Amino acid sequence: MINKRLTASVVASLFCIHLVQAQTLPVYLDESKPMEARIEDALQRMTLEEKVAMTHAQSKFSSPGVERLGIPEVWMTDGPHGIRPEVLWDEWDQAGWTNDSCVAFPALTCLAATWNPDMALLYGKSIGEEARYRKKTVILGPGVNIYRTPLNGRNFEYMGEDPYLASRMVVPYIQGVQQNGVAACVKHYALNNHEVNRHTSNIIVDERALREIYLPAFKAAVQEGKAWTLMASYNLYQKQHVCHNQRLLNDILKGEWGFDGAVVSDWGGVHDTEEAIHNGMDMEFGSWTNGLSAGTSNAYDNYYLAHPYLKLIREGKVGTQELDDKVRRILRLIFRTEMNRNRPWGALNSEAHYAAARQIAEEGIVLLKNEGAVLPIDLSQAKRILVVGENAVKMMTVGGGSSSLKVQREISPLDGIRERVGQQAEVLWVRGYVGDASGEYNGVVTGQDLKESRSPQELIAEAVEEARKADYVIFIGGLNKSNGQDCEDSDRSGLNLSYGQDELIAALAQANPRLVVVNISGNAIAMPWVKEVPAIVQDWYVGSEAGPALASVLMGDVNPSGKLPFTFPVRLEDSPAHCVGEYTGQRSWETVDVEYKEGILVGYRWHDTKRIKPLFPFGHGLSYTTFRYGKATIDSPVMKADGKLTLTVPVTNAGNRPGAEVVQLYIRDVKSALPRPLKELKGFCKVRLQPGETREVTFTIDREALSYYDDNQSKWVAEPGKFEAIVAASATDIRSTVPFRLEE
Ligand code: BGC
Repeated sequence: MINKRLTASVVASLFCIHLVQAQTLPVYLDESKPMEARIEDALQRMTLEEKVAMTHAQSKFSSPGVERLGIPEVWMTDGPHGIRPEVLWDEWDQAGWTNDSCVAFPALTCLAATWNPDMALLYGKSIGEEARYRKKTVILGPGVNIYRTPLNGRNFEYMGEDPYLASRMVVPYIQGVQQNGVAACVKHYALNNHEVNRHTSNIIVDERALREIYLPAFKAAVQEGKAWTLMASYNLYQKQHVCHNQRLLNDILKGEWGFDGAVVSDWGGVHDTEEAIHNGMDMEFGSWTNGLSAGTSNAYDNYYLAHPYLKLIREGKVGTQELDDKVRRILRLIFRTEMNRNRPWGALNSEAHYAAARQIAEEGIVLLKNEGAVLPIDLSQAKRILVVGENAVKMMTVGGGSSSLKVQREISPLDGIRERVGQQAEVLWVRGYVGDASGEYNGVVTGQDLKESRSPQELIAEAVEEARKADYVIFIGGLNKSNGQDCEDSDRSGLNLSYGQDELIAALAQANPRLVVVNISGNAIAMPWVKEVPAIVQDWYVGSEAGPALASVLMGDVNPSGKLPFTFPVRLEDSPAHCVGEYTGQRSWETVDVEYKEGILVGYRWHDTKRIKPLFPFGHGLSYTTFRYGKATIDSPVMKADGKLTLTVPVTNAGNRPGAEVVQLYIRDVKSALPRPLKELKGFCKVRLQPGETREVTFTIDREALSYYDDNQSKWVAEPGKFEAIVAASATDIRSTVPFRLEE
């Protein structure tokens, strides 16, 4: 009886609340109302001070909401490989939480090397879930700056040298993240292609290269991925900092592309109040910090978009139109994320996330060379396996700059190999070389003791002696995340490996014919020993599951299917930025011009057109099986002006293991008014085949695939005339070519 009465009164009061709510719920809180109406309603309830407060940070990684109105704060986090550990409110020091360890996903170079958009979706979904669980509004990533020079210390955070590949991979990453009600923040827009002088480089680039090479992935992120935020970069363009660049932010991003999200500054990237007001900067972060470690505390009121902004408005020197536009964008971000009551809850360190990290890693590792089928390692032939090299044991998730992580676990290559081999063989490790024995970044310590007192000669002698006695030698080296290697705010000084690794590898090749070299890096390296080493594997910074993923590829549990997302040049001088282009020089606090004189000829476009043989081409990657390509055919030899063509090519797994092949479609414009690269990637498809199985791979070719940017007419044009559709297994391994014409 009591229960019944209680229930009745609860129902009655709920009904009343509902009635009251229905009558009084303000529009901005009413999720049934259109987003834009909610934004306008919220905006007109806000004071000038509240609006200005939203346009700049209140702590190292957050900006305020409007407490009075129940509009929550915005919390950002790096990005892009895992969720950064918490720092103090106002300092870069670790906050010391015990619940902020994460899963480290593979670096974005590895994701790009999968050439599999499904992996990008899985990546985005998984990292988005981690961000959501950690109560973040925005993940500062993914990065899609084009790989212009192999010296760029941050290439590992990006998706390679080709705008088409980067575009296809960035879109699902964003969609996966944003499914969680967490915003992706695509960075660093734009032309941030090296790290030395990143704050002072004024990039001079022709309009064609800007449109054809450097902007497409950002455009795809905005228009197809529908990214909710975007980060403006540190450098200058047309002598104006990109964080308040009229052309890049207002004209192109918000004007031409119709970006409706919020532009976030890179940390400390804003330098001028009036420009920031007028030229499209919405959320200022990190002023008076270097974005990484050092920075003034409590400077927020003095940020360019804080009191100085208010002062200009109060003095009547600027109006509030720009402010309202910024706040609308920030409110849109908050409605899409923090105020979306239907967003999922997220998850941290789940087994599903480890599985995703491992799968992406296994699909991204690239088999560069495999002479005499040294790989996969045949455990029935191996009693003794020698592993050599610091990267076999060094934790790689700590270091590298803002993408550094505090992981719940990271399994090293050596542990992964040992675990996989089990009792089947003895696995021995020797150091071989000393790279960087330190293991600390921004207060996160690996706890590894990698100190070594022996001389390089002693280490090489030991490795060689052990190599002679081994059935297989696996050298695991490459770059690391220290300054001058693959690390933010610094670039490499050359293409060669450091720490005497070249000498060591050459000596190992002499000592044992069954040598496998595993290069861990986010960049191309020179390989003076390439002819002497039978098997070479390109591994990446693959995060938590580094060891198991590598072991499964080496032992053949997984058949490698990754392909290079950038070219390996033989010498640095073969790379366009260093051959004809300019690369920034000494560190400079003054503005320095850097001219991209190579124009559109970046990566394979350069090597192809100038006929410069690469060490390993873009798109290259071997398998433990072989793929036979049949003849490609096209449904018509003529494309109508408004039409499309379908190209079909049969691909057969001609070996005896299941495997996956990335079939690539390049287009060549046989004759054009303006010079074009020899060919350009316009399609790819990863196809999985059982032994003996054949599948028809189809591609649609549309006008867009034939177009180039005509800077005289300021538009994309597809010139009528002859074209070729080139089906290839890499930029230099062409399997079938079909001519066709575009009609007048
Ligand atoms: C980096 C950004 C990063 C930001 C916040 C800057 O130094 O360039 O990529 O998201 O710091 O950590």
